[in-house]
Amino acid sequence: MNQRSNFTSKIGFVLAAAGSAVGLGNLWRFPYLAAQYGGGTFLLVYLILAVTFGFALMIAEIAIGRKTGLSAIGAYKALDKRFGFVGVLTAAVPIIILPYYSVIGGWVIKYFVTFISGDAHAAANDSYFGGFIGSPVEPIGWFFLFIALTAIIVLFGVEKGIEKVSKVMMPILAVLTVGIAVYVVTRPGAMDGVLYYLKPNFKDFSPTTVFAAMGQLFYSMSLAMGIMVTYGSYMKKDNHMEKSVRQIELFDTAIAFMAGLMIVPAAYTFYGGSTEELKKGPTLMFVILPKVFDQMPGVMGTVIGVAFFLLVFFAALTSSISLMETVVSIVMDKTKWGRKLTCIVVFVFSLLMGIPSSLGFNIWGHITFLNGLTFLDLFDFVSNSVIMPIVAFFTCVLVGFIIKPKAIADEVKETDGTFKSEKLFTVMIKWVAPIFILAILVFSVAEGMGWIAV
Ligand code: TRP
Repeated sequence: MNQRSNFTSKIGFVLAAAGSAVGLGNLWRFPYLAAQYGGGTFLLVYLILAVTFGFALMIAEIAIGRKTGLSAIGAYKALDKRFGFVGVLTAAVPIIILPYYSVIGGWVIKYFVTFISGDAHAAANDSYFGGFIGSPVEPIGWFFLFIALTAIIVLFGVEKGIEKVSKVMMPILAVLTVGIAVYVVTRPGAMDGVLYYLKPNFKDFSPTTVFAAMGQLFYSMSLAMGIMVTYGSYMKKDNHMEKSVRQIELFDTAIAFMAGLMIVPAAYTFYGGSTEELKKGPTLMFVILPKVFDQMPGVMGTVIGVAFFLLVFFAALTSSISLMETVVSIVMDKTKWGRKLTCIVVFVFSLLMGIPSSLGFNIWGHITFLNGLTFLDLFDFVSNSVIMPIVAFFTCVLVGFIIKPKAIADEVKETDGTFKSEKLFTVMIKWVAPIFILAILVFSVAEGMGWIAV
């Protein structure tokens, strides 16, 4: 990590950044949030935020990285001493996310194994998933496997191999997702569900929708956690940042959209439009998709189920590798420990941190925080709804008022002198984004703490 090797091709940069961006956030988190927060309403809010906020923040982060040639901790400090703490805060995010991300990664392996051993039909049963996460020991076993795999890959530095595999897998995943989505929406009676997913209904609108969408945007695009700063530090000057950012956004959003189309209408249909059931949250993908697969004729469901969970596993693994890699390099920089020791420490720490998240679905389900959040919800809340908005807010202040948007715009223009959305960028980063983020932060903390009810 110390040597700034550059991305050799422009598409290489986009693919690497998209590879980090596309993961469980798109396939697992986006659909359940969309289902939870009123379908079309959430979708619309998300899309608006993606092309305005998401765009401005991603440009800012990548430009900060390329301008300074440093990753987040150093970069913020280099731009302004007083903002060094922002870099430090970004470091906390992957440390918090990695453990619970791996818990879900473990569920994905479990489902892959279930489908490959021919239990597709059993997996479609209502009580299958509940039985699985309801048992204290088994999910921890799969979580252990997932995080151990991640650690082994990071330890031996064989990410490159995995990345190569995933570059083949990702397009296949995209195609399969589209295929399953088409299958779902062409089922008889699916139209109501499709409408629920696509049509905004302003009765569902609440401030919570906006901050859930915002948190999801940060999460899905790997923003406000230093990742894009690091990627930017590897980016060459002849790479047009604006175009690359648009491509990454388009790709990430398209996958999330398709994943939603694959899961939300099906969930809507299965639950007969009951919004209570649609709020099942983190479990949605694992409960609904097996039912969809089970309805497919003959062995098709099994084959597609195996393929699907294998591909999701790869998407999750590339993300968890890059999360762990980030954590390892932060710890190595701070402690000067060797790579091996650092990997082992990070592995053990993540294991310990992940166990409560897993147990929160069974024997520790009664332990809740703030406004009834279980362990996994708590970690998700602290990183996505608290730390990331704080980082994003100070990034806006730093760019908008200290180094000035022009400095970033000049960096964007390094390639060929153009920056089409410069005005949008300037207004966003200076005024709209910080004010908005601050409002959301206050609101989401108040809600998480249970001070206000929405
Ligand atoms: N964006 C990833 C996803 O959608 C998750 C993620 C968050 C991530 N932070 C990351 C991936 C950092 C790699 C590195 O699933």
